[in-house]
Amino acid sequence: MPKQGCEIGVVGLGTMGRNLVLNFADRGFSVAIYNRTAEKTREFMAREVGSRDIRPGYDLKEFAGLLRKPRAMITMISAGEPVDAMIRELLPVLEPGDLLIDGGNSHFTDTNRRSKFLAAKGILFMGLGVSGGEAGARFGPSLMPGGPREAYDRVGPVLEAAAARVNGEPCVAYLGRGSAGHYVKMVHNGIEYGLMELLAESYDLMKRGLGLGPEELHAVYAAWNEEELNSYLVEITARIFLKKDEQTGKPLIDLIRDEAKQKGTGMWTSWDAMDLQVATPDIDIAVVMRDLSGYRKERVAAAQAMSGPNPAFAGDRGRFVAKLKNALFAGMIVVYAQGLSLLKRASSIYAYGLELETVARIWRGGCIIRAVLLEDIRAAFQARADLDNLLLDARLGRQFLARQWDLREMVGVAADLGLPAPGLMMSLAYFDAYRSARLPANLTQAQRDYFGAHTFERLDTPGTFHVQWDED
Ligand code: 6PG
Repeated sequence: MPKQGCEIGVVGLGTMGRNLVLNFADRGFSVAIYNRTAEKTREFMAREVGSRDIRPGYDLKEFAGLLRKPRAMITMISAGEPVDAMIRELLPVLEPGDLLIDGGNSHFTDTNRRSKFLAAKGILFMGLGVSGGEAGARFGPSLMPGGPREAYDRVGPVLEAAAARVNGEPCVAYLGRGSAGHYVKMVHNGIEYGLMELLAESYDLMKRGLGLGPEELHAVYAAWNEEELNSYLVEITARIFLKKDEQTGKPLIDLIRDEAKQKGTGMWTSWDAMDLQVATPDIDIAVVMRDLSGYRKERVAAAQAMSGPNPAFAGDRGRFVAKLKNALFAGMIVVYAQGLSLLKRASSIYAYGLELETVARIWRGGCIIRAVLLEDIRAAFQARADLDNLLLDARLGRQFLARQWDLREMVGVAADLGLPAPGLMMSLAYFDAYRSARLPANLTQAQRDYFGAHTFERLDTPGTFHVQWDED
């Protein structure tokens, strides 16, 4: 009896694509695969496939022929022009009713453009955020799909089987229309940047401030990971400090250049937040600090030329670490708060129809920003779907307020020691600005009216006003 066509196709056998194929196949789905270089497909078939139902297509026609109709396929290729090129190549083998899913970190505006272009040809298109790196793709990622509802209904069972699970619930759900999935993934990455910056600052404060070595740092982060800070990023941070360089036997962390690279998703988050006038200063500063880390030559020269305070902390070290833990947790609450407030605004402006409770639910497992804290974040949106800011949730607000004093102290300590901790500072300043009934923006308005006749509004009378600020 001839075999039935494959349930799902995967284009691109890079690290993420290969692992996703194995994941789908291990969940009992038949998978058609295609890679631009046939050699990679052959190698994959020979080395990794075994008895799994994975069928290779060595050109796109053959690949399309392997799939059950209407077809469903996921491209796992680099974002940008390669996706457009692949769409152009796929078009001749696609038929109306087929579903194409882009599983890369594509910019959401590209996803909107491609959706429109393909919809005109009767082809369904979904943007799918995939988080969790190599291990996630293989054993359970967090998946963030957006696009037409009917498209999700078609591939939902495959995605739900492949995704990570937390308490029996899959870390995937239909998120919303158009580019909702890629937008949510972009903000996930923005939050990832913010959290990583806070962790880098906590490391710097303990390394340069307290002089802790890798083993002590491992112990601190491992202990923190047992409590409210429990999360993937804290867990891997603890592990990183144990890794020894194979050649020298030294802790690897001390041999890595202090220059952070980026592929751009954090920057995209900041751009769009600015565009939508949503304050995400922790994400912005995380991008800035990666940029500043790249000024290595200038920094090394400036370190010779300019001095500041002695970074060594002279007080109670145990107290320092305990307060830093609280400051870090408070800072992290603010990072999630900023990211989710951006999602709330974006959903209304772009008509995504996002449910933030669902977003928090599918971020609890599989993805890079998974954390115990997301249980509380989910509960916050479960209690109030239209919550403006996580800091206004009773439980999260209490958790932040209880730690604000330690956050204030650590920000002060960092300034005193001359150690840059702008993420912690941003979290605090954001909180202080957010809770200020009165900000000094009245002065900004007065200045704008003074030099540019931009007008101002009054507290006591409706309307817009302009005055002649100079009498003469
Ligand atoms: C994930 C990661 C993944 C990737 C980032 C790295 O969710 O699995 O976010 O998408 O590792 O894109 O981003 P940068 O190169 O910009 O740090």
